[in-house]
Amino acid sequence: MSTPWSHRYARRAKAATSSAIRELLKLTQRPEVISFAGGLPAAELFPIERFQEACRRVLAEHGPAALQYGATEGYTPLREWIAAQMARYGIVAAVDNVLITSGSQQALDLIGKLLINAGDRLLVEAPSYLGALQAFNTYGAEYVSVPTDHDGLRTDLLEEALRSGPKFMYILPNFQNPSGVTLSRERRVALVGLADKYGIPLIEDDPYGQLRFEGEHLPSLLVLDRDNQLRDDGYRLGNVIYLSTFSKTLAPGLRLGWIVAPPEVIAKLVQLKQGSDLHTSSFAQAVAYEVVQEGFLDQHVRTIRQIYRERRDVMLAALEEFFPASVSWTRPSGGLFLWVTLPAGMDAPRLLEAALKENVAFVPGGSFFAEPEKGLRHLRLNFSYCQPEQIREGIRRLGVALRRQMTGPVPVPTAA
Ligand SMILES: Cc1ncc(COP(=O)(O)O)c(C=O)c1O
Repeated sequence: MSTPWSHRYARRAKAATSSAIRELLKLTQRPEVISFAGGLPAAELFPIERFQEACRRVLAEHGPAALQYGATEGYTPLREWIAAQMARYGIVAAVDNVLITSGSQQALDLIGKLLINAGDRLLVEAPSYLGALQAFNTYGAEYVSVPTDHDGLRTDLLEEALRSGPKFMYILPNFQNPSGVTLSRERRVALVGLADKYGIPLIEDDPYGQLRFEGEHLPSLLVLDRDNQLRDDGYRLGNVIYLSTFSKTLAPGLRLGWIVAPPEVIAKLVQLKQGSDLHTSSFAQAVAYEVVQEGFLDQHVRTIRQIYRERRDVMLAALEEFFPASVSWTRPSGGLFLWVTLPAGMDAPRLLEAALKENVAFVPGGSFFAEPEKGLRHLRLNFSYCQPEQIREGIRRLGVALRRQMTGPVPVPTAA
């Protein structure tokens, strides 16, 4: 709709769109709806008492400094702590390689601000994280999409896409949002090799890497990047910028994420971040630093993994029980999401309308593709937020909606 303001908007604001399903998803807030739509962590796991104690300590020990403006780079003890944590995964970063951001969503926006000129082409996975597409769209990005399968990005199809000269590749190697799939070790090696061969940087977005339920940890792209080593002339990282966040391991309301990059890139990002928000909340950073002390985060992440694994298992079992054989889905070994593929001829937005009548919700796949029509037969299901019994009941309802959309009888369900 045209308003007195709309003709005044800058081109980048006009490029920002809100998704067509947003209105439908507002309905998911009704209490009777079981929602697999959001990417929300399990709220009952937030360590409230630990936060209470940390807030008290920060205010008592730091006094006004905790409430004062801070450095754009972030709170130094927290940056040091992050650098030390990442060393456990083989990521050799010094404090100058770490910039604290207001969530990794801000990191994506800053990367857009840093690297994208209108019309630049970016290489993304199909599907990819919708929040990244949204952030990059604002800067006038165009896309070349490379399909994924159960082992992540199809690196066998990459070389041709790279020849079209993308500005960077945006990759989610672990328990990808939305599909839940993980990039195999062989493909990681191939990807980093091709990035190097074509001189195309990689943005590695890794909010879920710590939430692995089974199997071995796979090396980060940053680690595999052959330039990731200490140099005589000071530390430098090579072709990869790495992003992570406290949102899925501690609490998303903190709005704390971080970027690992070469110092000169961090310095440029600092200038750009100053224009956005001066710095990430001093108070949130100091509190997070207190919370994670004494090995608390490790112990807490162990609990999260266990609970989410149980929920994933409940969802997988319910899918087997209630979904028709013609529907398929991924079996993630970590993270928050799985990805369902409907048989030919079906469409996820129509299924969502039917599902909402059954009081169950999900996100249709189109929003996760640079070309939304590619997502027509897909849906993303979140398994971290709902209790196990709600998960089973929600999948049962979705099974009813599915069968209504297909021809054939609606079966009488077993106990809900
Ligand atoms: C892949 C990915 N990147 C970035 C984000 C943003 O996370 P936050 O801004 O909460 O750190 C999310 C959130 O769901 C995500 O799934």
